[in-house]
Amino acid sequence: MRHLLALLAVTACGGAQRADMSEGERTYRAKCTACHRPYEPSKYTPQEWTASLDKMERLNKVHLSQAERAQILQYLTGDPSGAPATSSKP
Ligand code: HEC
Repeated sequence: MRHLLALLAVTACGGAQRADMSEGERTYRAKCTACHRPYEPSKYTPQEWTASLDKMERLNKVHLSQAERAQILQYLTGDPSGAPATSSKP
């Protein structure tokens, strides 16, 4: 029971840095939360994420290297290339 409670306490704490955080999530939080809270990956489709990244870079002068952009897109959409998911996917 102790263990379960500890686990719940850790997972409930969404805003804090977690040890198991992926490289992409780390980069996302480092690069994308200076101006606003982190948006949930599930909040947008891969197409919308790609467009949002473009928009952030264009309008908000967010500077990302190719690697950082790929990491972030990998985390947000599961696709390292950042290519919009094909609409034929379910
Ligand atoms: C320099 C400040 C700044 C940084 C850094 C920044 N954003 Fe934003 N972001 C904004 C502002 C301001 C808005 C709301 C106004 C707007 O639409 O531009 C916004 C809105 C958004 C939205 C809401 C949808 C939309 O397009 O309006 C998403 C999604 C988003 N940002 C993603 C990101 C991601 C991903 C990154 C990291 C690559 C990032 N932001 C980094 C300033 C920033």
